[in-house]
Amino acid sequence: MTHYDVARSALPYVAAAAVSWYFYKLFVAPFLSPLRKIPGRPYKPIVGNMLEALNAEAMDNTINWMTEYKSRIVRFYFLYGECRVLVADPELVRHVMITNSKNYLRPASRSLASIVPGFILLLDGEEHHALRKLINPAFNSTSTNEFIPIFEETARKVLNLWQQEVEKNGGKDAQVPAQSHMANLTLEAVCRCGFDYDINSVEDPDHAGVQSFQRMLAGLQIK
Ligand SMILES: *[C@@H]1O[C@H](CO)[C@@H](O)[C@H](O)[C@H]1NC(C)=O
Ligand SMILES: *[C@@H]1O[C@H](CO)[C@@H](O)[C@H](O)[C@H]1NC(C)=O
Repeated sequence: MTHYDVARSALPYVAAAAVSWYFYKLFVAPFLSPLRKIPGRPYKPIVGNMLEALNAEAMDNTINWMTEYKSRIVRFYFLYGECRVLVADPELVRHVMITNSKNYLRPASRSLASIVPGFILLLDGEEHHALRKLINPAFNSTSTNEFIPIFEETARKVLNLWQQEVEKNGGKDAQVPAQSHMANLTLEAVCRCGFDYDINSVEDPDHAGVQSFQRMLAGLQIK
């Protein structure tokens, strides 16, 4: 028997194993996941709940599902039977982000992590814990309380822009690019709180500084 023959006779077994594995993953595993105990959408084979999810605006599904299930934690199925969980309860967020963060790894962009090694938002486990302890004094309640007026002021700018859109529309519903506004709001708040620099990215998004920041973020694919 040559290697070729061995490979050929093994082929049906490999194919059968692959088919059973996919069958298990797509049609069995979703019904065995312990996450099924969390209220959420019923499983649709292969596509999960993604058709429904893609038909709505980014946050709409989260809000609708949480309202429907009267729960601040809901489960849905991503493609190929993969369970995903959405949380909106401060205690749960605390559990994931702080008390038990070691068990929740970040799906960080590896390319970004290699460009900025040690960037705290991309670290996991022990490294993250150690670095956070180091910078914690900068985020004590006294200093974070000073951020609140800045957050408020920046949020008001966005609300004003939304108000203007509604007024332009004669007081009726208006569509706003909420996600883009939120990105610009975040940039402005971070620049003011972190660097004491007013980049004014909400009201003046075409400013050169804002543009170059956005280009950099786009290049790093973390937008
Ligand atoms: C919090 O941090 C600020 C500066 O970072 C410092 O002046 C202040 O004393 C700290 N407050 C407490 C309660 O540690
Ligand atoms: C946010 O900033 C980007 C980049 O400057 C800009 O293209 C976009 O229009 C801004 N978004 C809004 C809603 O103003």
